[in-house]
Amino acid sequence: MDDQFPNLRVSGHPLLRHKMRLLSDRMTDARTFRDLVSEITSLLIYEATTDLPVRRVTYDTPLESTEGFEIDARVALVPILRAGLGMVPASLDALPGSVVRHLGLFRDEQTHQPVSYYNKLPKRCEEDLVIVLDPMLATGGSATAAFETLKACGAPRIVFIGIVAAPEGVRAALEQHPDVIIHVARFDRQLNADAYIVPGLGDAGDRMFGTL
Ligand code: PRP
Ligand code: URA
Repeated sequence: MDDQFPNLRVSGHPLLRHKMRLLSDRMTDARTFRDLVSEITSLLIYEATTDLPVRRVTYDTPLESTEGFEIDARVALVPILRAGLGMVPASLDALPGSVVRHLGLFRDEQTHQPVSYYNKLPKRCEEDLVIVLDPMLATGGSATAAFETLKACGAPRIVFIGIVAAPEGVRAALEQHPDVIIHVARFDRQLNADAYIVPGLGDAGDRMFGTL
């Protein structure tokens, strides 16, 4: 937990710290970048789901009847295109029973405001938990737009899993949505004049898909 932002969870896990150094290195190629995004997402999902409800069930081992647990929540994964797509496979591996609902948003290069171009949400978002996936939280405009869209759809509980966040974006997103919990692997210093996170890792979508 961060003193300034109680709803911001920045993992200090050594494995994440090590992988973040590799991910943000300018020499890391697209294939390695994608692999690292997946590995980092697995660790973040693990930390972000520690309070997921479970129900007790009775079942048979090969030897006897016993009791165990099953996840007791309907979960929707909502990747923000494009870069959020890279976080989907690892999230689905961890939560194979979840549904994936896509939102397409890009940042206007001049205004840095989010522009919506795709929305695959149903009329009502009835899952108990929505996990928004997007590696970058910079100005917070894209995340905030996603939260607004999801709440208008009826989403009762929203968690954001990102990889790098900037203070400006976390402040903006949590001021408007103080109920959302934000999990990231690294909380960076600030935005630069082009609203990129510094030190950051550059343009996550371009690095992931080799479109630099
Ligand atoms: C990036 C990133 C976020 C957004 C963050 O996407 O993946 O969606 O920018 O910036 P913000 O917090 O200032 O809104 P981008 O708009 O570059 O689109 P892309 O994923 O298609 O490259
Ligand atoms: N989007 C990115 O991909 N990187 C940033 O630093 C900011 C927005």
